[in-house]
Amino acid sequence: MKRMKIIFYSIPSLLLLMVGCNTEESKIAEPNNDLVNLSTYEVIQTEIWDQSCISCHMTGASYANQSGLILTADVSYEQLMNRVPNNVAAAEDGLLLVGEEGYASLPKSFLWEKINANDMDHFYQDHPEYGAIMPLGDDFLTNGELEFIRQWIEAGAPETGQVASLELLTNEARYTPTPFEALAVPESGYQFHIEPFTVGPGMDREIFIYEKLDNAEPIYVNRVEIAMQSGSHHFLIYQFNNGLSTFLYPPEGATRDVYDASDNYVESVLFHLQFHDFVTGTQWPKMDYHYPEGVAFKIPADFGFDLNSHYVNKGTEDIEGEVYANLHTVPESEVVHVAKLLDINNDDIYIPANTLQHKVVYDFIAEEEMNVFQLFSHAHSNMTEFRVYAVGGENDGELVYITYDWEHPPIKEFDPPLVLESGQGFRLETTYDNPSSNSLRFGLRSTDEMMILFGAYY
Ligand code: HEC
Repeated sequence: MKRMKIIFYSIPSLLLLMVGCNTEESKIAEPNNDLVNLSTYEVIQTEIWDQSCISCHMTGASYANQSGLILTADVSYEQLMNRVPNNVAAAEDGLLLVGEEGYASLPKSFLWEKINANDMDHFYQDHPEYGAIMPLGDDFLTNGELEFIRQWIEAGAPETGQVASLELLTNEARYTPTPFEALAVPESGYQFHIEPFTVGPGMDREIFIYEKLDNAEPIYVNRVEIAMQSGSHHFLIYQFNNGLSTFLYPPEGATRDVYDASDNYVESVLFHLQFHDFVTGTQWPKMDYHYPEGVAFKIPADFGFDLNSHYVNKGTEDIEGEVYANLHTVPESEVVHVAKLLDINNDDIYIPANTLQHKVVYDFIAEEEMNVFQLFSHAHSNMTEFRVYAVGGENDGELVYITYDWEHPPIKEFDPPLVLESGQGFRLETTYDNPSSNSLRFGLRSTDEMMILFGAYY
């Protein structure tokens, strides 16, 4: 997988800049030239910390005292590595400023939480006690800077060595919160619209709506766009698998609330959840996802989807939830590969009573070549960690998916796809805490557990 490999600065354009550095025209390129011999961390220091952070995070500055963090070159690396955050809530959540476990450290990095502007909505909604997005009171870091830092953390956050391409820094786009607006109806495709619904103060409202496409023929989807009114936790599109007889499908168009007025689960709504296969979705207010070139997802004739929207209102006044989702279609003649759903479900789970950190391991072996371009885990509230490792082939043993968040696991995309040859596969390792006096098994209820890896491949 490209992501984890060390990238040397052999990019032709940079070499050209080096070769041409004596000439007049190349003056502009000189700063870049200086960076070529620096380690990735030295680049982060000189290009990011020194420019955007040390005005506050330097010895003697009151902001530095308040945050307990110094980012000047003499100490910044020690200040960040394996340090428990000064922020009490983040420390209690088990975060470190930066850990050394690479990809597994990213979701536990408080530094990453604090700078990742693209996830700003979640940051403020889920963790109001985490303080502000950094740099405080200034423009967000550019997407290039963020990607550069992300790759550095994923490579184990080394102090020396080059683990991210300088080319990334040329991306100077920044996250700009866009006001919610209706998506244009696709020229070829379908639009779903979840009409505004009220979420009262302090309320957690999660709804499902089953919508039919009324498509006479199969269709091929190669792009999905989603736009959500702010405050959304997630929007997911599911389909029902074969386990559900058609006569048990929920009524079309009806809003099914997961919680009733006294905040208890509605059993009839829970019933359908066990037949869901994940199709697509996002936790970000806006998504525009293109399937890999030539790849499309086939939707059989006369099909329907179960739409799932979840809003949490931590404020003191009503908010409105609202979602648009576009499925863009292409003619069958343009489809080279039909995407298929990956659904690896281990229903043989047994978690004894009064056990913490109980690990369940399950191997999936591919019977055909699979180009996996999306992964997404599913488990219930006892799950503390969900890891997926590659089995066999050149990536053998590599961690390809991780989450510590049972409720909102990330949807991970692979570009280029992860290739599994027949006989290779995934090892799922899920860890559960069960402090109760009842053992846990596979099951649908929130008091049961699950261990599912969803994905998409061709
Ligand atoms: C204008 C001053 C200012 C600037 C500029 C600034 N910060 Fe901060 N930073 C603060 C303050 C104040 C806090 C404590 C309050 C908070 O967390 O919101 C803080 C807290 C932090 C924390 C949490 C530390 C902990 O252990 O709790 C991190 C990480 C951080 N900043 C990183 C950065 C980075 C990286 C940059 C540059 C990209 C940056 N800051 C720029 C003022 C600043």
